[in-house]
Amino acid sequence: MAEILDLDAEVLHTYLSDVTAWLEELAGDQPPRWILDLGSGTGTGTFALLERFGEANVTVLDISPQMLHHLRNKACALGVDERVHAVQADLDAAWPALDTVDLVWAALSLHHMADPDHILAEVFNVLRPGGLVAISEMDFFPRFLPDEVGLGRPGLEARIHAALNGGPAYDVSAHLSRAGFTLEAKRPFVIDLRRPLPAATGRYAQVSLRGLRGRLDGLMNADDLATLDILIDSDGSDGVLRRDDLTVRTTRTLWVAKRP
Ligand SMILES: C[S@@+](CC[C@H](N)C(=O)[O-])C[C@H]1O[C@@H](n2cnc3c(N)ncnc32)[C@H](O)[C@@H]1O
Repeated sequence: MAEILDLDAEVLHTYLSDVTAWLEELAGDQPPRWILDLGSGTGTGTFALLERFGEANVTVLDISPQMLHHLRNKACALGVDERVHAVQADLDAAWPALDTVDLVWAALSLHHMADPDHILAEVFNVLRPGGLVAISEMDFFPRFLPDEVGLGRPGLEARIHAALNGGPAYDVSAHLSRAGFTLEAKRPFVIDLRRPLPAATGRYAQVSLRGLRGRLDGLMNADDLATLDILIDSDGSDGVLRRDDLTVRTTRTLWVAKRP
């Protein structure tokens, strides 16, 4: 998973910059000095937040020691390791003691948790009064391919997602209000990247589609699976690594709520 998170950070850099600029606006004259990144992964949000809030420190918390190790190496390479404090913990279990923070960031992580109400009650406790929690979730998995792709039958990518049936988008509004937060804003960020695309887009598409391919046996017909295999192959001339007609289309929703 670490590779796809790093690719996400690279390809969706503009989105991350837009989101942190919006948080800066919402924070007004009290920019956060201490931030907690819940389920930080490899630091996609951490580094965007450190860049936006130049005075801030970030506590990164993740269940995975490998993710935290990777994040620390990146922090050292970027020269910001003194501003990053790693805590390994399972958020579904008893929380470790944490200092009070001004902003909690949880990107693509809350839906992994067994009990979001419990998580948000803990978030409430760790935030200073007036502090913000920002939660982002994906409305739908990114789409990369033109509609015409499909062996004699266009619409391969739509069929992939129909076969996997991702279900409705995750909504955290009710969890936030049950925990005592005041919802400040719920905002969809529509991502629609066209050429010229970031250099890592082909690899991002390949790794993403390979992840989906692993779940598709028995769910799609042989022609569709064979076409997908060609698309994710690293050597073939028709693979996504070499195509010049890719796009990146997805929507992420951000909830920003305040501790009264
Ligand atoms: C999809 S990744 C998102 C990473 C990062 N926030 C981002 O936006 O790229 C989800 C992260 O949540 C972490 N995670 C999942 N369950 C967890 C738990 N119970 N406690 C702490 N972290 C958890 C995973 O290890 C992973 O790094």
